[in-house]
Amino acid sequence: MKILAAGDGFVTTKVLTGALVGQDGLSEAVDVSSIQSNWPNEPYSDFSGVKEAFGNEDDLIAALAGADVAFSHTYPFSERVIASCPDLKLITITRGGPVNVDIEAATRHGVVVSNAPGRNAVATAEHSVAMIMAAARQIAQRDSEVKAGDWRSDYYNYDAVGPEIAGSTVGVCGYGNVGGTAARILAAMGAHVIVFDPWVDPSVLEPGMELAPDLDSMLERSSILTLHQRLTKENEHMIGAEQIAKLPDQAIVVNCARGGLLDYDAVADGLDSGKLFAAAFDALPEEPLPAGHRLFSTPRVTMTPHLGGASKQAAELAGRIGAADIARFVRGERPEHLMNPEVYETENLRIGAGK
Ligand SMILES: NC(=O)c1ccc[n+]([C@@H]2O[C@H](COP(=O)([O-])OP(=O)(O)OC[C@H]3O[C@@H](n4cnc5c(N)ncnc54)[C@H](O)[C@@H]3O)[C@@H](O)[C@H]2O)c1
Repeated sequence: MKILAAGDGFVTTKVLTGALVGQDGLSEAVDVSSIQSNWPNEPYSDFSGVKEAFGNEDDLIAALAGADVAFSHTYPFSERVIASCPDLKLITITRGGPVNVDIEAATRHGVVVSNAPGRNAVATAEHSVAMIMAAARQIAQRDSEVKAGDWRSDYYNYDAVGPEIAGSTVGVCGYGNVGGTAARILAAMGAHVIVFDPWVDPSVLEPGMELAPDLDSMLERSSILTLHQRLTKENEHMIGAEQIAKLPDQAIVVNCARGGLLDYDAVADGLDSGKLFAAAFDALPEEPLPAGHRLFSTPRVTMTPHLGGASKQAAELAGRIGAADIARFVRGERPEHLMNPEVYETENLRIGAGK
């Protein structure tokens, strides 16, 4: 049994191989080799039918020679890579959305794909709450001014100050791994949390939370709105001018999910007109945001460069979730997080077909 640990600068080869150590079933008989790419020091991109990937396909094919299992975060598992590695049986990707794998191609070639959902839920939820606080208190803006020698006390004016989280009504759109964690933190801080998520079981909500029957009834009461849905064709731009108009005056809008969920022009209009108090984004309409974009000059906008999921624990948990599924697979058990379960359950499986 040969496993290739194909790391990068975040989920490093050391993190991947360290997570494999001690897993039941992964004894000395398992041969672990490794390569490591230069992401995130250079940006990832979409190519060869996969997304948000980094690394050279030929280097990956060479490193995968004879490997049964690929364990990676951002390497490109394109159709060409998968077709070139006939021994490969399992690709385990240490991210929630393994968009750097051509899953249809893996399925056609009988290769199982597993992922690591929830690995950065705490990191992203904490970042989202930090962005709500940064927006409410205008921390980044005041920091820049103080450092520029501009010490202003007029921000203490009633009209210039923002809300507290405690006592505010916060609309949490999407109650999955990230949204659920953010909702629990916000409720613990004393916010009244209104959840909008058509697929959530109301019994999982905790004290201090209520489930909105529809989007509008959440928007109408949310002085802080934070987005945590996955982006789909159905919910693209689901928060636009019409939805922002429904928020209470001086509301705060935060998006640390995906840029496609939000009409950023509508948010900028809301900030320019004074309808909104502030906004904060870790997900942007284009990443990186092109020079001269309106958001650079819109007042009270706080932005971070898609770092919500970036914590040490997220990288380590990603490795542990992936390694546990690799160990299950090697022991002949069903991995817990399968992207193409039909492959595992049918004779297409390379290992089952004896390929
Ligand atoms: N900023 C970052 O670095 C970062 C890191 C991790 C995740 N994310 C993003 O955060 C978001 C949440 O991730 P997650 O892991 O919690 O996903 P998840 O799949 O666990 O949860 C998503 C939830 O959204 C709900 N949902 C789907 N469509 C909806 C709609 N139209 N309205 C309301 N709810 C809807 C689903 O029912 C589900 O409960 C995703 O967009 C993800 O891409 C960002």
